[in-house]
Amino acid sequence: MTLLQVSDLQISFESGFGKVDAVRGVSFSMEMGDAIAVVGASGSGKTVLGRSLLGLVDTPGVVRGSILFNGSQIVGRNEKQLKKVRGLGIGMVFQDALDGLNPVYTIGSQLSEIFMVRLAMHRTQARAEAIRLMELVGIRNAEERFDDYPHQFSGGMRQRICIAMAIGMKPKILIADEPTTALDVTVQAGILNLIKELQAETGMGLIFVTHDLAVARLISKRLIVMYAGQIVEEGDTEEVFQRPQHPYTQALLKAHPARARSWRQLEPIPDAFVTDPSSGGGMPHSVPQVTLSQ
Ligand SMILES: Nc1ncnc2c1ncn2[C@@H]1O[C@H](COP(=O)(O)OP(=O)(O)OP(=O)(O)O)[C@@H](O)[C@H]1O
Ligand SMILES: [Mg+2]
Repeated sequence: MTLLQVSDLQISFESGFGKVDAVRGVSFSMEMGDAIAVVGASGSGKTVLGRSLLGLVDTPGVVRGSILFNGSQIVGRNEKQLKKVRGLGIGMVFQDALDGLNPVYTIGSQLSEIFMVRLAMHRTQARAEAIRLMELVGIRNAEERFDDYPHQFSGGMRQRICIAMAIGMKPKILIADEPTTALDVTVQAGILNLIKELQAETGMGLIFVTHDLAVARLISKRLIVMYAGQIVEEGDTEEVFQRPQHPYTQALLKAHPARARSWRQLEPIPDAFVTDPSSGGGMPHSVPQVTLSQ
């Protein structure tokens, strides 16, 4: 059975300022062990797509289409049913580690709480598992640091702890939304390698959202390129890098520093490659410029 099957997914937000079609007919599927990177300009719908896979779409978002996880439908499920899916099937690491950690509880208690509540472990067992995971993600003196609070850890360490929390639940799919963007390059590299290793070890599926093409290339086997809420290109990561088919992907690669010999050679991304189907064609869908990584 296919692990995740997304079909004709549409997500829109209606507000006093008008309607935003954040995701416009996205379809893809993944199996255990797949590593997919989702790239695209700011506002192209990457985060909304990632969150929707866990049933996390902020009001007043409207979701249409189908998301089948292990054969069961995510779209239209209530919060109670979704909690089960999130707890045991799909985990997520967000951009900012502070989103995932509570500042008033110690790291150890937050980690072991998850194992006690969700995996029904006893306190001592949960403590041991928390320490094992802290060590696994590279927290030195894990046993001593068990009783430290989030603010006593650096940003990179907090992000590692969030990854430990997500991995500790042994998800079948881990969704990571720009988990290293806020960190400096060396810390970033450490965390990316960690995610890669953990993925190879556990065989979980990985969906990694990033606007950084170099990161996407490092972490993924398959690449999904989004533009204005649609997938404009999908394929084997190396193949897309070697032979990008869609003009937007071509422009994205041309504009990327790793592809240019110097910063002066960077080319801006033309405004629109995808016409808005709802406008009857012709009118470009307005999308902010791509953010270049350094
Ligand atoms: N809660 C919301 N209410 C209204 N519009 C929203 C909401 N969340 C997202 N959007 C809109 O959906 C579109 C896609 O946003 P999304 O955050 O998914 O982009 P992104 O690709 O993750 O961008 P970035 O690279 O900047 O993180 C944007 O136009 C955004 O303004
Ligand atoms: Mg985003």
